[in-house]
Amino acid sequence: MQDPKALVFDAYGTLFDVHSVTRLADSLHPGKGAALSQAWRTKQLEYTWQRSLMGRYDDFNAVTAEALDWALESLQLAATGEARTALMAAYRTLGLFPEVRGALARLGERRPLAILSNGHPDMLDAVVDHNELRVFFGERVFSVHEAGVFKPDPRVYAIVTARLELAAGSIGFVSSNGWDAAGAKSFGFSAFWVNRGKAPVERLGSPPDGAADDLAGVAALLPA
Ligand code: LAC
Repeated sequence: MQDPKALVFDAYGTLFDVHSVTRLADSLHPGKGAALSQAWRTKQLEYTWQRSLMGRYDDFNAVTAEALDWALESLQLAATGEARTALMAAYRTLGLFPEVRGALARLGERRPLAILSNGHPDMLDAVVDHNELRVFFGERVFSVHEAGVFKPDPRVYAIVTARLELAAGSIGFVSSNGWDAAGAKSFGFSAFWVNRGKAPVERLGSPPDGAADDLAGVAALLPA
């Protein structure tokens, strides 16, 4: 594997902790915050895959809102319009995993960094700016929205090769979502898996080139 000329990061779950909504969810629905956050995220991803297979793309704001409604109903939680609005707004101010800023500073010293995410451009800009990450990514915050389909469709990963004007083999892709790392590797990127959940490697025929428990561990696998 060659030293990647650019590194591209997944957003949700890799840089930003989707479960940082748990505290708000728990204050709205005491004792149910963690279950709501888990059900919400699981259904959100399912809807991205299902909509892609059906050829019925809708943007990640809509998918996330529909998944929230499903998750609330599945747990028999009645949310006011205000509570629902607050939970959706929390997605724009998700917290950063603690090691992310240091790892990006190290990895960004000698190569451009980018984001490629399912998120709608508005959601991504909000959460990137909220966490003051613009210094690392500049305008290289890419959304599946321009492809009109979600990960792991190869047309999504092709956004990066076109925008960065680099061959797939010279790009490293970093994701905490094992299926996203597999999709990126299948496309032709080098893939690095941030295995935060200590899960087994996906049986999808395209294992990652490297894996570690967090982003600092992945950064240690690459030349600074
Ligand atoms: C993303 C999803 C996979 O940010 O979390 O693209």
